[in-house]
Amino acid sequence: MAAKRGVGDAPVRGRRVLVRVDFNVPQTESGQIADDRRIVEALPTLNHLRANGARAILMSHLGRPGGQRDPRYSLRPVVHRLSALLGQPVPIADDIVGVHAIESAARLQNGQFLMLENLRFHPGEEANDPAFAAQLAQLGEVFVEDAFGAVHRAHASTVGVPNRLPSFAGLLVEREVRELSKLVENPVRPYHVLLGGAKVADKLPLLTSFLGRAQAVLIGGALAHPFLAQQGLRLGATPVEPDLGPIVRDFLAAAQSAGTQIVLPEDLTVERPGATEPQDYPVDRLPDDAISRDIGPKSRVRFAATLGGSRTVFWNGPLGLAEDPRFAEGSRDVLGALANVPGFHVGAGGDSARIARDLGVESSFQFVSTGGGAALEYVQGLALPGLAVLPDA
Ligand code: 3PG
Repeated sequence: MAAKRGVGDAPVRGRRVLVRVDFNVPQTESGQIADDRRIVEALPTLNHLRANGARAILMSHLGRPGGQRDPRYSLRPVVHRLSALLGQPVPIADDIVGVHAIESAARLQNGQFLMLENLRFHPGEEANDPAFAAQLAQLGEVFVEDAFGAVHRAHASTVGVPNRLPSFAGLLVEREVRELSKLVENPVRPYHVLLGGAKVADKLPLLTSFLGRAQAVLIGGALAHPFLAQQGLRLGATPVEPDLGPIVRDFLAAAQSAGTQIVLPEDLTVERPGATEPQDYPVDRLPDDAISRDIGPKSRVRFAATLGGSRTVFWNGPLGLAEDPRFAEGSRDVLGALANVPGFHVGAGGDSARIARDLGVESSFQFVSTGGGAALEYVQGLALPGLAVLPDA
């Protein structure tokens, strides 16, 4: 993909600059920020704007409140953290595009910031409603896209606003595109893709574009369950999303014609009621009460050995229930082994970054994207609406 016109070329001094950031950060049950990486990764652009005298109006979504105001999804905790990181207060405009937001934006001085409350409190955001996009655009004079994690969404803030204002890519978006492009344009082969995690029904249809492009796709985590079930295996009491059989069948047939090897677990680490310790079983011998929680020891060795033959790796999603130390071994072993494999290794997804950090395997990766779905779509060569709308450099 061609490089995009960057914020370094944007006329920002004394201008009101609307900045789309992705502050959709994971939160604890009590509403604390569990991982501030997406805020930290936006700082280079925000510091650039401050140093160059911009009057920045920040916009983000948080969670999926469905067009309704819901205090659980307020950006207030985010703004609190952001103010601390920037070392200056960032006020929040609760009304998003109302009188308060308009007046606060108009009062901004050079180098100051204002944050709009969660865009998804307004139904116009996800609907890309033209009237809402116009109201947002009126708050600024220039638009900067730095929400890489949201560029796969055609929403008012990601497409409607840049259609109405001179638009530029932020430093995070520039970096993400530069790094992830290496997987799209001639990745050094063999190129292997390692996939896990949940959101099975969301992810499965996306995976076909890896076929032919990658030499091997290794599948663990809950994503492996419908594949194992499709082979006629009974996975004990493991929940398997229903109705995925035909998609899995088509995917496997397409993989065969494309010459892409699909590697599935041959054993699983399971949890059983009443048992304190996890137990390992071959995939064809799971007891009726067993719930699969991780790939088993033989699978770990096989996955690591397969990846040992790669030169490029894309990883998305844990291979088991990695937040529980009893079921983190699969992810730790396989991802840890990558540290000794020469090549270019990319991880993607907010969760993936946190898991790599918690498991102490960050050094296995040359780049970890802030995008989840956006990165997954980008590396498959798909056009992302929030990038397509930005002018080329
Ligand atoms: C993400 O976390 O992947 C992005 O912030 C997009 O969020 P969404 O899937 O709710 O659109």
